[in-house]
Amino acid sequence: TDPYIYLFQHIWCRQPHIKAIISFQKHFQAKHDDIIIASLPKAGTTWLKALAFATAKRHRFIPSQNDHPLLNSNSHTLVPFFELTIYSDNNPNYVDPSTLPEPRIFGTHIPFPSLSNSIHNSNCKIIYICRNPFDTFISFWHFSNNMILSQSSQSLPTLTLEEAFERYSEGKHPFGPFWSNILGYWKASQDKPSKVLFLKYEELKADTKFELKRMAQFLDCPFTQEEESGGIIDSIIELCSFGKMKELEVNKSGKIPDRRIIENKHFFRKGEIGDWINYFSPEMTEKLSKVIEEKFDQSAWSHPEEEWLKVN
Ligand code: A3P
Repeated sequence: TDPYIYLFQHIWCRQPHIKAIISFQKHFQAKHDDIIIASLPKAGTTWLKALAFATAKRHRFIPSQNDHPLLNSNSHTLVPFFELTIYSDNNPNYVDPSTLPEPRIFGTHIPFPSLSNSIHNSNCKIIYICRNPFDTFISFWHFSNNMILSQSSQSLPTLTLEEAFERYSEGKHPFGPFWSNILGYWKASQDKPSKVLFLKYEELKADTKFELKRMAQFLDCPFTQEEESGGIIDSIIELCSFGKMKELEVNKSGKIPDRRIIENKHFFRKGEIGDWINYFSPEMTEKLSKVIEEKFDQSAWSHPEEEWLKVN
């Protein structure tokens, strides 16, 4: 068994997250205009957070020089966000969410059925980002290898690609199994389209403008004709682009202080579609395709692997 990952409420998670999930479920009070960004780790969360932040009415303007609040976060906030998974009173990063300006934007990896009742019962909106599980796995493997235990400044014992892949295929990775996490939000988006918007990383990359307009519409703040012709959409896309975000000082030298130290720079690796092909053996490709086929075909979403196996 993996000493670092446990099954809790049908969710695979690392030990500090268990307490945080319990605390979040018990205490978190959603407000009607909250925006929740949900994802599996490495699905493009940081990008979507930035896009949602810049699209919200409060921050929707074309920055002159470098004056957008997205560009001025302090050294340990990658983007000015509050992570629901670190919702815990004894966490040094704890910020009382009731003090945050509205609309509040939160990020979480918690599966849909395990979100707090107040999220389910309020009118708040959830935007989920789904990424091809092949690329998500490779991104996750690189990221895990870069996590450092803060007390000892030592790296966590790392798994070989093959070991990590075995666990991933069994669903044993943070906030997994990946199929449950994705399908939970996918089903919710089908049942409640005004509550949950289901985006795909690949589509967001292929046509960021179209997806951003969809997102603004979903958030009940569509871009006006004037805003569009004034170039605000292109400006948001540029502000949140991989190249721009990667070069921000906070993302080059900042750290997220946690039990594990995570350097912000590791949130920006390649930002490409199809990098998995450089790592997967034919056996791995076959195995993961089979897992996806089996798990997804039990739902109404059949054969997504055909789409995910395409490499641009
Ligand atoms: P890669 O490791 O494949 O490069 P998360 O934010 O959920 O942790 O996901 C991180 C992944 O999203 C990384 O993928 C990272 O490079 C990519 N990413 C980060 N910012 C991005 C952006 N602005 N545009 C596109 N991809 C981005």
